[in-house]
Amino acid sequence: MDWFDYRDGQLFCEDVNVDELAARVGTPLYLYSQRTLEHHYDALNRAFAPLNPLLCYSIKSCGNINLIRLLANRGAGMDIVSGGELYRAQQAGVPTNKIVYAGVGKTDSEIVDALEAGIHSFNIESEAEFENIAAIAAATGATGRAMLRVNPDVADPNTHAKTTTGARETKFGVDIDRAVRFFERYSAHQHLKLTGIHLHIGSPIYSPEPYVRAIRRALVLIDDLRSRGSTIDTLNIGGGYAADYESGASPTYEDYAAAIVPLLQDQNLSIIMEPGRTISGNAGILITRVQYIKTGGTKIFVIVDAGMHHLVRPAMYDAFHFIWPTHVVPDHVPAQRSADMPNQGLDAVEVVGPICETGDVLAAHRALPPVARGDLLAVYTAGAYGMTMVSNYNAMPRPAEVLVSSDRATLIRRRETYDDLVAPERDPADV
Ligand code: LLP
Repeated sequence: MDWFDYRDGQLFCEDVNVDELAARVGTPLYLYSQRTLEHHYDALNRAFAPLNPLLCYSIKSCGNINLIRLLANRGAGMDIVSGGELYRAQQAGVPTNKIVYAGVGKTDSEIVDALEAGIHSFNIESEAEFENIAAIAAATGATGRAMLRVNPDVADPNTHAKTTTGARETKFGVDIDRAVRFFERYSAHQHLKLTGIHLHIGSPIYSPEPYVRAIRRALVLIDDLRSRGSTIDTLNIGGGYAADYESGASPTYEDYAAAIVPLLQDQNLSIIMEPGRTISGNAGILITRVQYIKTGGTKIFVIVDAGMHHLVRPAMYDAFHFIWPTHVVPDHVPAQRSADMPNQGLDAVEVVGPICETGDVLAAHRALPPVARGDLLAVYTAGAYGMTMVSNYNAMPRPAEVLVSSDRATLIRRRETYDDLVAPERDPADV
């Protein structure tokens, strides 16, 4: 569900004409629909309302402080993985007691900042990390809360190898069979209270079933821990809920909730969720302009001004993003966004970026209506892990970001300049 629609062959973001906007702001451009973002947050919240969860939006999926602020205003907490994300959350005015902090490599200074901020909890990834955070808390006189991230050993066969995390041999969390010993060793700590379990099994997870398996295992563990005298008051069930990369591709929130809610009702647990892409994914598109069209052997290359430096997902995970011109004849208005759209007599092309890498491909062998130099293409479902994974490779400035609400468009991040690229290098200093 989103508010990117064609009117008489012209793409609109809510009530804003995308071509007119791109003429004003330039390309490449990340464009977000506020209504779409808020719709997904609200709908997920409604579906899981029986559990009254704390929804901690995963900042790594799309971290512009103006978007974070919108979600915080609706009551969202945040899932962070670095001091930089903590800073973003604070700049957006997120209440720090709604922030949960995951990640395998938290540094001492990041830990000090998070303890000082009074975050909700640390998701603990190893024995060594627990001991370090506890020692820092004791030394600074702070107290913190901790959830042990366990590996339930459920691998989702549909998740790309680079984004699966629930299997036994990953760098994340500790094996579930080490958990009892972990609690025996650490649950009496005065400065770091270990009172919960954290799961995150990968992303995206295209069916409720892996969650069910993981949560069942966690509940068995929680029973065991409670019977041994530990206080377990919280279960964080992580993120990974899918976005619609193709029309109707992901389960509905009601589907996920129907499987998950009954397991967790009446367990006397506070529930935390860490959704990222399911909220931000469909709320953003990447607008890029066609620079050149050329042939190479039998292939037709459409060369655009965005590439793997602006959206790395196709190059990194072979991810599918639907791509379509923003202005088309009525016959070419797409009825749905899908990989196997009936080819309406359209040529298959390679949509590639300007980067000097053969792998700089946004779409391979993709049917596209005829396009010419200067036309705009929209790359859909680019809101999650789009802008946050942008790089400056080939000394390309980062794109601008625009937020649309009804007929109003707001520049929420200006396009980087060449000066932004070299500014940190200007004043070499002895060290
Ligand atoms: N919680 C934890 C502990 C995570 O590691 C992640 C994502 C999330 C929550 C949010 O997952 P989401 O709901 O957004 O799926 N760059 C990859 C995805 C990497 C995910 C990393 N962790 C991609 O573009 O597909």
